[in-house]
Amino acid sequence: RSLAELETFIKQSKTCTLKNQAKNTVFSDGNSSSKIMLIGEAPGAEEDKIGKPFVGIAGQLLNKMLAAIKLDRNSVYITNVVPWRPPNNRAPDSEEILQCLPFIQKHIEIIQPSILILLGGTAAKAILATTHGITRLRGQWHTYNNINIKKPIPTIATFHPAFLLRSPINKKDAWADLQEIQQKITNSEII
Ligand code: URA
Repeated sequence: RSLAELETFIKQSKTCTLKNQAKNTVFSDGNSSSKIMLIGEAPGAEEDKIGKPFVGIAGQLLNKMLAAIKLDRNSVYITNVVPWRPPNNRAPDSEEILQCLPFIQKHIEIIQPSILILLGGTAAKAILATTHGITRLRGQWHTYNNINIKKPIPTIATFHPAFLLRSPINKKDAWADLQEIQQKITNSEII
């Protein structure tokens, strides 16, 4: 029912084998009262070590992306689809994602954000329950729904900051997505 209960539940759960190899359960960072919730893929080495999402090099770019639309870690809430680091930074496979899906669904229900921002293809596919890739999903508003949510949540996907580090040419599109998000925040008077 509460974030603290969810965190304890996830830390005690044994449903996902990724947990066995991880140092930490990476639960969240930011402001749990925020109406803007960001969801990434899974922790990397730095996140696993420190126990917080997006504290490594991709996190530094995420901070800059947020700053570009006048947001920061205190004005958003950040988590991942999968709370444990997959070995060697591989992407979580579909079985691991399905094992962790009830956690993120409950997490969204507790936070009750007004806007969901999905970082990268893994989060976009998992949360929007689609096989479409990020190139097709990004830049437009979708809705997130589950059986415990009364009102569908406006949801947008954009490129993952780790992908943007490898492929800076896509920063142009990510910038357009950020502006779309900023407009939505202004129009819906979230902040
Ligand atoms: N990449 C993610 O998707 N999440 C993190 O927390 C760090 C890197």
